[in-house]
Parts: sequence; C-alpha cells; structure tokens
Amino acid sequence: MKAFLIDRYKKGAALRLGEISAPELRENDVMIEVHAAGVNPLDTKIRDGEFKLILPYSLPLVLGNEVAGIVVRVGANVRRFKPGDAVYARPAQDRIGTFAEYIAIDEADVAIKPNNLTMEEAASIPLVALTAWQVLVERANLQKGQKVLIHAGSGGVGTIAIQLAKHLGAYVATTTSTANIALVKSLGADVVVDYKKDDFEKVLQGYDVVLNSLGKDTLEKSLTVLKPGGKLISISGPPDPDFARQNGSGWLLQQVMRLLSGGIRRKSKRRGISYSFLFMTANGGQLGQITSLIETGVIRPIVDRVFPFEKTNEALDYVETGRAKGKVVVTVK
Ligand SMILES: NC(=O)c1ccc[n+]([C@@H]2O[C@H](COP(=O)([O-])OP(=O)(O)OC[C@H]3O[C@@H](n4cnc5c(N)ncnc54)[C@H](OP(=O)(O)O)[C@@H]3O)[C@@H](O)[C@H]2O)c1
Repeated sequence: MKAFLIDRYKKGAALRLGEISAPELRENDVMIEVHAAGVNPLDTKIRDGEFKLILPYSLPLVLGNEVAGIVVRVGANVRRFKPGDAVYARPAQDRIGTFAEYIAIDEADVAIKPNNLTMEEAASIPLVALTAWQVLVERANLQKGQKVLIHAGSGGVGTIAIQLAKHLGAYVATTTSTANIALVKSLGADVVVDYKKDDFEKVLQGYDVVLNSLGKDTLEKSLTVLKPGGKLISISGPPDPDFARQNGSGWLLQQVMRLLSGGIRRKSKRRGISYSFLFMTANGGQLGQITSLIETGVIRPIVDRVFPFEKTNEALDYVETGRAKGKVVVTVK
C-alpha cells in the first residue's frame, strides 16, 4: 500500500511517499480502508523529533493520527464492527499511521462515523474532539454556569472545545485574531478577546477553567484569569510528573518533567489554582458519545482546507503556519 513515512526525525523534512505492506491485523483489530485523514500539529512535532522521548517509535514510521474510512476486515475477537461499516478513530499513540491506504486499529479505539458527515469532515474530528472531551468533561468536570476560557478558539481543538463547553452549559470566553471573530461567535463563544487589540488577562477575571494550547507567556498570564480553586489545564506543555507516571516514563524523565513544570506548578499553588498537563488518549467509547453530539447538531466540524493524498506534505506545511481555521484534512480515497 501507499503511505507517507518518516525515515528519521528531522525538523521540517518532507515525508516520503513509499510502497509498504499493509499493517498486521490483530485479533481485536479492525482493518480500515482510509478514505480521509486529519492533519494535526502533533504530526509535525513527531516528524521534527519533539516527541521522541515520550513516544519512542521505531522508524520508518507512517505518520497520521486521525482517520475516517470503511472497515474491510475484522480480527477474530471483534464484536462491535463488521466489514462495510463507516467508522472514524484516533488510533492508539503507539499504533498511528493514517497517512496510508489502510490502518489496523483496536476496536476499542474506533466508533461509528456520524451519518451526517462526509469522510473528510469525520476525519477532522477524533483527535481534537477527544482532546476537548478529556479536558472539559474528564479533567475539568465543567459544570453548567461555570466560566471557561478556551485559548485559540479558531484552531482545531478550539473550534470543537467552544461547542462542547456551550453544550455543557458553561459561559465561554475565547482568544483569536480579528479575522476569526465571526467564526468563534458562530460556534457559541460568549466573549471573544481579539489578541491583536486586547490583553485577555486584563479583561477576563473569575474563571473556573482555562484550556491552554499556546505558549509559556499565555500559560502564565492565564493564572490571573482564574479564581482560587480554578483549574489551569494545558495541552501544549509543560508536562508534569503525573503525566510522566501515567505515560510510564522512567525515573529520569519524571524528574525532567518535574523540573520543566516546576515554575508553573509553584505559581499556580500560590494562587490556589491547580495546574495539570493533559495528553489525550484514544477512546472509542468517548468518540461514540461525540458521534451522538454531532448527529444531533450539537457539534459541527470546521474544515479549513482539504488536500489530495499526494499533497500530504503541503497539508503539513499549512498546519505548521499556525493559521488554520479549524482543521486540515487529506483525502486518501
Ligand atoms: N496534549 C494534547 O493531547 C493535544 C491535543 C491536541 C492538540 N495539542 C496541541 O495544542 C495546540 C493547538 O492545537 P490545534 O490543533 O488547535 O492547533 P491549530 O489548529 O494549528 O491552531 C491554529 C489556530 O491557533 C490560533 N492562534 C495562534 N496563535 C494564537 C494566539 N496567540 N492567540 C489565540 N489564538 C491563536 C490561530 O488563530 P489566528 O490565525 O487568529 O491567530 C489558528 O486558528 C498545538 O500545540 C497542539 O500540538 C495537544
């Protein structure tokens, strides 16, 4: 099958289009014929080698972390899916590879594709919607009437997180630039801070939760937005010791993460705020709940650009500009 691969980690390097054998089907797996694959900053970061300590892949590696497609075969133990089912998934972090014609994924990580979405729209959902779910529902336990600040509301994660937070009954503030104000308002944001004109930390106060997906500056300024007892949850780092333990990292890596997050953990503690880093995980059960929210019109996908499979490198370059409005997707079949 055709697949886009990395042979070694290198910043900005193009992926190689190669011919490789189809993946092995394990007994709990479904084999998915890939119709579309979502593109994420995670793909460029893995390619650049930024994740090699946390995710030690063996190379060459097929890249790609989101898929929508059709089940073509199932393993002996599979009960929930059959050939012909239209599905979508974020594969487990050690079994990625959606920039390819086929991928085998454990059925526990797969869900039926929302019936009101195209393959491209469906492929834009799993990683970012699971991230939003795991931050807002699982980690933050966001309640009706609570106030949440979602940074970068016009991005892949932000566009879904705003809609999910509104569905949970929260009051939602977000940051974006002038050109994307109408987009984030259309998704339900109650307050929009245009970061080209205003400083969010000067206009927002008394928040219960902040979802940070930006850099250190934004992370630290977000502390002043939160009230005591509030939660600062970052998906863009720095990783903390709890994450290191969950990830099964060794003692040395745990100490590195303790050091990296020491500053923000201390500053948070002084204000009575809890800091935590979250790295999303594959979860077909949660994705099934997201399917229901999409089919009932609660959440809609925002797809900025769709690239043909052979232009996967251009799709990655576009994501790397950091200017995508919602998601970038590659059509594979
Ligand atoms: N830990 C995890 O599990 C996890 C999961 C998913 C993503 N992430 C990370 O989270 C980050 C965001 O991911 P993503 O997929 O949402 O990225 P993305 O779609 O590439 O984000 C692009 C968006 O960010 C906005 N943006 C850029 N700078 C901004 C600023 N200073 N203030 C407000 N908005 C700004 C841009 O809007 P403008 O053009 O208006 O500036 C653009 O719409 C990445 O670092 C990614 O690796 C982590």
